[in-house]
Amino acid sequence: MLAMAGSQRRRSFNRALLRAALERIPEGVESREFDPSRLPFYDGDLEAAGDPDPVKELKEAVRAADLVLLVTPEYNGGLPAVLKNAVDWGSRPPRPQAWDGRPVAIMGATPGRLGTALAQRSLRESLAGLNARVMPQPRILLAGAGALFDGDLRLADEAIGQRLDKFMSAAAEWALRFR
Ligand SMILES: Cc1cc2nc3c(=O)[nH]c(=O)nc-3n(C[C@H](O)[C@H](O)[C@H](O)COP(=O)(O)O)c2cc1C
Repeated sequence: MLAMAGSQRRRSFNRALLRAALERIPEGVESREFDPSRLPFYDGDLEAAGDPDPVKELKEAVRAADLVLLVTPEYNGGLPAVLKNAVDWGSRPPRPQAWDGRPVAIMGATPGRLGTALAQRSLRESLAGLNARVMPQPRILLAGAGALFDGDLRLADEAIGQRLDKFMSAAAEWALRFR
């Protein structure tokens, strides 16, 4: 499983959610995190000169992943540029592009009220256009994130923990469908 969060902020709720998700993957399942802020901003001239190393790494990691877990903040009703940039680089040649046929699970957290609904919708739309197989249900939209994590940013809400367990089991089953 490849996991990416759209925030590298030191006290990011989304990275905290990603960490809580990784703690829940079954033993024996390999996981790795990719930091999308390592990617340069997409630029056709850069691409024409040959993919920079982090771009090569991203494309290889997406292609090889049995599941890609994306954890997105919401910025101004959409997804953060850093995550969209990873989607964009992955959508580029060689064909088939890296997202084609890849199972993806999406979740997100915000201190706000709508749980990243708009960011998730936007991410789903982009990935659907790239023929990624985005898990439709269950969904994790964490609103009021400030109250759900403790001072060490560990998930402190039992009900959310149970939902995350179900989400990760469903994601594992979803991934198996596309093996
Ligand atoms: C530029 C910017 C725009 C934001 N827009 C939204 C928004 O549209 N909806 C929302 O729920 N939160 C919004 N927020 C608040 C973020 O949800 C909050 O900063 C969150 O903690 C970011 O995720 P992180 O904790 O993983 O870094 C915005 C924050 C920034 C910096």
